[in-house]
Amino acid sequence: MTTSKSYEVSLEHIDVKSELHRLHNLANQNWEKEARNLKEFGLQDGMSILEVGSGPGFVTELLSSLVPNGSIISVEIDPDLIKYSEQYLKDKASSQYRIVEGSVMDMDFPDNTFDFVVARLLIRHLPDPIGAVKEIFRVLKPGGKLAITEFDYGIPPISDPDVPEGELIREKAMYAHKARGGDPLMGRKLWRVLKASGFQKFDLEAVVFHSGKKGIEWCYPQFDPDRALPLVKEGVISEAEMQSFRTAVERFMSSEDPFFLWVILMSCGEKP
Ligand SMILES: C[S@@+](CC[C@H](N)C(=O)[O-])C[C@H]1O[C@@H](n2cnc3c(N)ncnc32)[C@H](O)[C@@H]1O
Repeated sequence: MTTSKSYEVSLEHIDVKSELHRLHNLANQNWEKEARNLKEFGLQDGMSILEVGSGPGFVTELLSSLVPNGSIISVEIDPDLIKYSEQYLKDKASSQYRIVEGSVMDMDFPDNTFDFVVARLLIRHLPDPIGAVKEIFRVLKPGGKLAITEFDYGIPPISDPDVPEGELIREKAMYAHKARGGDPLMGRKLWRVLKASGFQKFDLEAVVFHSGKKGIEWCYPQFDPDRALPLVKEGVISEAEMQSFRTAVERFMSSEDPFFLWVILMSCGEKP
């Protein structure tokens, strides 16, 4: 079985707690916009949903609020995250849900099972994205939809004041992501991945995250310099580069009314 190499919760941040905090923040930051797109793509209450790469369960909770009369099955490969999500979701989920340990590459469901599949921040971590999307295609009912939410590291965040020191960190993070078997430029390939896997009737939307609405503190977990510390340990980023980035972020945070914006892509295809 081909499994993910590029995402490991304990290697993404200074510690697991900080990574979970970042994922929670990222899931909740813009859910209204993400939910709007999911509904536009065809997600409706009452549907049977498959969520792949569900991680700590933050998105499962939000998805369940969209389908209170539906059901969600979440597939996750990391047993520790499954334990965490089971604990987290107790008393939080609004619909029936079940979390299954396994890989999206080879799922234990019959053909034509689900109405809608959600793959959020998973596909760019997989060594064989088309293999994963073909497996999702198999378990979707005809007329069912797959919605993929993903970053493309080639779309840099922007800020005011500008933080040019962030550019080097972004480039090195891209390099490390690729070296671990992921594809940091997946956002621009979603369309092609869906097409190559048999999907039709594509759609693609950009979702803008920015500090204007919720404040800079709310965005901070996404550019917190501590997030780059594992790359310092791996020798990808030098201590001097890290210090320079940290100082630049401090300068940015203490500037008058700092603004930060980044973009996430959401793509959808239908199984004929
Ligand atoms: C960046 S996290 C995203 C979690 C969640 N979807 C979210 O948006 O907050 C990626 C998740 O995919 C899981 N994952 C990686 N490879 C997988 C695979 N082959 N099958 C299922 N899950 C996988 C990881 O363990 C991790 O929980």
